[in-house]
Amino acid sequence: MNGAPDTSFTFTVNGESRTARCAPLARLLDVLREDLRLTGSKEGCGEGECGACTVLVDGVAVNSCLVPVCQVDGAAVATVEGPGLEAVREAFLAEGGAQCGICTPGMIVMTKAWMDECERAGRAPTAEGARKALAGNLCRCTGYGKIIASAVAAARGESR
Ligand code: FES
Ligand code: FES
Repeated sequence: MNGAPDTSFTFTVNGESRTARCAPLARLLDVLREDLRLTGSKEGCGEGECGACTVLVDGVAVNSCLVPVCQVDGAAVATVEGPGLEAVREAFLAEGGAQCGICTPGMIVMTKAWMDECERAGRAPTAEGARKALAGNLCRCTGYGKIIASAVAAARGESR
């Protein structure tokens, strides 16, 4: 991709140790989707603007289209497929927070990051808080109301 020789990078993905042999500047998004066959993370813009590719690296939400794989060597990566996101995935399903689904994995991962942050801060999850947390994740379909409702339902453990 960038002319650099392939190198081995080892990191955990959703709790499992994985090794990818690729160029150091290969995008994490491509390594996840193409090398590790985890196609949940989506590419929207490819430029860090839409959030469709959001994953957690050591608990921090990042745009995986902007992260070179060399930066996650030894780190813990969590994707939409991973454990611990079941309640969020179910809330988006139950509350109608997905239409075409392109933005949905990023919304789900960012919601999880927001829930974790609320818990750490001892803050009650509110719709306004969800709106702020998800402000960097773009959706062309839903109008956001159901996405915010899904995030709040997940955080409150009350999806129908
Ligand atoms: S695909 Fe990464 S931010 Fe849009
Ligand atoms: S559901 Fe289509 S972009 Fe959000």
